[in-house]
Amino acid sequence: MKLRHTIIRFFSENFYVIFGIIIGLYVSSVIQIAEDINCDKNPSNYHGPARADISNISNTQNKVTLPVLPKRPSQTTRKSKSKLIRPRYYSTELGIREKLFVGIFTSEEKINTQAIHINKTIGHLVDRIKFFMTAQYKLKTKFNLTGLVGFTDARSKYRPFQVIKYVGDTFLQEYDYYFFAYDYTFINAQRLKDVAKQISVSMDVYLGVRVKDGSFCNLDSGILISNSVLKAVRNYLDWCVMNTISDDHSENIGRCIYHSLGLTCQGSVQMQSLPSYKLKHFELSQYLHDLSNKNEFNRAVTVYPLLQKEDFYLLNAYFLRQRLTTINEEIENLSKILNDTWPPGQRQGAKPATRFDVARQYYFNMTHVFFPDDFTNVRRHSEPELIDIMNIIDEIKAQTSSKHNSVLEHKGLVNGYRTFDLSRGMDYVIDMSLKDTSTGEKVIKRFQVCKPLGSVEFVPVPYVTESSRVNIILPIQETEIALAMEFLRNYNSLIMDRKEKTFLMPVLLYQYNSGSKGTNDVFGEVKNFVTKTASRYKNDDAKIQWVSVRLPESSKPVYVEDVQVLNFAVVDLALKKIGLESLCLILDVYCNITVDFLNRVSL
Ligand SMILES: *[C@@H]1O[C@H](CO)[C@@H](O)[C@H](O)[C@H]1NC(C)=O
Ligand SMILES: *[C@@H]1O[C@H](CO)[C@@H](O)[C@H](O)[C@H]1NC(C)=O
Ligand SMILES: *[C@@H]1O[C@H](CO)[C@@H](O)[C@H](O)[C@H]1NC(C)=O
Ligand SMILES: *[C@@H]1O[C@H](CO)[C@@H](O)[C@H](O)[C@H]1NC(C)=O
Ligand SMILES: *[C@@H]1O[C@H](CO)[C@@H](O)[C@H](O)[C@H]1NC(C)=O
Ligand SMILES: *[C@@H]1O[C@H](CO)[C@@H](O)[C@H](O)[C@H]1NC(C)=O
Ligand SMILES: *[C@@H]1O[C@H](CO)[C@@H](O)[C@H](O)[C@H]1NC(C)=O
Repeated sequence: MKLRHTIIRFFSENFYVIFGIIIGLYVSSVIQIAEDINCDKNPSNYHGPARADISNISNTQNKVTLPVLPKRPSQTTRKSKSKLIRPRYYSTELGIREKLFVGIFTSEEKINTQAIHINKTIGHLVDRIKFFMTAQYKLKTKFNLTGLVGFTDARSKYRPFQVIKYVGDTFLQEYDYYFFAYDYTFINAQRLKDVAKQISVSMDVYLGVRVKDGSFCNLDSGILISNSVLKAVRNYLDWCVMNTISDDHSENIGRCIYHSLGLTCQGSVQMQSLPSYKLKHFELSQYLHDLSNKNEFNRAVTVYPLLQKEDFYLLNAYFLRQRLTTINEEIENLSKILNDTWPPGQRQGAKPATRFDVARQYYFNMTHVFFPDDFTNVRRHSEPELIDIMNIIDEIKAQTSSKHNSVLEHKGLVNGYRTFDLSRGMDYVIDMSLKDTSTGEKVIKRFQVCKPLGSVEFVPVPYVTESSRVNIILPIQETEIALAMEFLRNYNSLIMDRKEKTFLMPVLLYQYNSGSKGTNDVFGEVKNFVTKTASRYKNDDAKIQWVSVRLPESSKPVYVEDVQVLNFAVVDLALKKIGLESLCLILDVYCNITVDFLNRVSL
């Protein structure tokens, strides 16, 4: 999809934004307040997370493993290219696959015990799980379980190849990795998934634990093979079946893979391995404590053999707990780093290169801002600025009254300072005069408020000439009509009058029960304005046209702020009218755009 997509929203109107190639910018409405700032919040104390350890580059470089390049398409695929038959799903055409298929070798006697335990412990974690067994009859009539695959051929030594044939025929397109094990093997599915995720899908993988003095992987501890290996093995199944000389599944699989690809069991691939632990005690619950001190046990992806129900669940609980501990530790480690910045996790502002680059700090009181530019001493706040300041003061009031149980009464603003940093957002320092109602004492407290920029996304865009039309989508809610009219009037004088090459599409969001005809029309004013403007600029490049959307029925009014998914619905609808190939800009009624800004967009 060649959609060039710009999502821009403004929290308040007075950010005049001059960006390079920033494509998505969203000023979050998070307002963070720190009370009683003390002066040792010194940038030089900053120990940010950005310092990477690169002390031994040469060392790390040696460890980089180059992925194997995907094979060239074969002659046959190139020939059949002449007539492309579209598959049913995008994922098939694009070769998008799920990660992990798990196949368990089991038997009819174990279906109601071990298979169930395995299914219960890992069934919900892997993308698909299947249980393979011998069955001479229709499985459905005997078991209510799904995920069972029965083979009528009872000759055990061919079982691996029956399984490979079945999986290859049925699931070859769908998974990157296939893991096989017996029903007496406990699988730490989270770790197994981690391993599968870390290995490049372009590798040929036959991963497991090598049998002693052998070249094949032990099926007892589980074997992970990649899609490419499964594909290759499937082509040599006849040879593999004819040369099945052992009763050991592990050996038969190993020989077959070796014949197909020349691959022997890999202990590790791209630094990932599948450690396994063989239990030597029969009463796991008694020895678990001892085992928990053993490193080999703790890092195991599989543990075998297990026969009892309790043992499966015991191990499951043990490894889940281990994982939980690690995750909690990770969270703690990460939050420590976050605490080094204020507000936690936000970018620090850009460090000025010279003293001339220091971001300007503007002083203001409740009504005026001082030295707003090089030529003005003092001017009144514009309306958006005023709304912004009021918002911040309301937020401070809310925070202090919740923190100090309303013993502090607000008297008013003493000083205000405002700084805008392009890489961080808007910072305010506010001195408030407060009265302590318990003592009657007057105090002045300083607050630091930050309105951070959020979610800045860089999306690579194809080169567009400045002459391409910018399509603007403007959703308008019933509560925003006054603002919308102001936006439209501004837009009219700034953009339409200059005959810029634009197309504005106001999307009118009607509540399900609002009138939309004649004088009852809630959006009548907007519609009239748009129609009038459209006819006035009929012969110009600047175009404007509204569309309306009726929101679904609901007990209370539906607002975009509450139901974010509406944004997608609006864009989806608008794109149908505008076309997918065009350049789109999504705005809201709170912003005031300029020609310069539009030029940035079409660049
Ligand atoms: C870098 O790695 C090499 C090889 O492992 C080692 O000899 C050398 O001491 C290491 N240098 C540092 C600074 O750690
Ligand atoms: C399968 O389900 C039916 C009805 O839910 C039940 O009567 C039957 O006992 C179940 N069979 C097995 C083998 O669990
Ligand atoms: C495995 O679990 C799923 C639900 O999680 C269930 O539908 C399925 O029948 C189970 N299969 C077996 C063999 O236990
Ligand atoms: C957390 O930090 C400690 C000390 O820096 C480190 O030893 C530990 O491995 C870290 N834990 C995780 C899960 O990253
Ligand atoms: C981060 O700072 C806050 C407040 O200063 C504190 O409550 C919290 O415990 C700190 N967290 C960490 C992980 O240091
Ligand atoms: C803000 O400063 C201006 C200029 O000095 C002054 O006229 C105005 O009264 C002040 N506003 C408040 C609320 O103090
Ligand atoms: C919008 O921008 C224009 C030009 O920059 C300016 O003249 C106008 O006053 C602004 N409108 C508002 C509401 O800030």
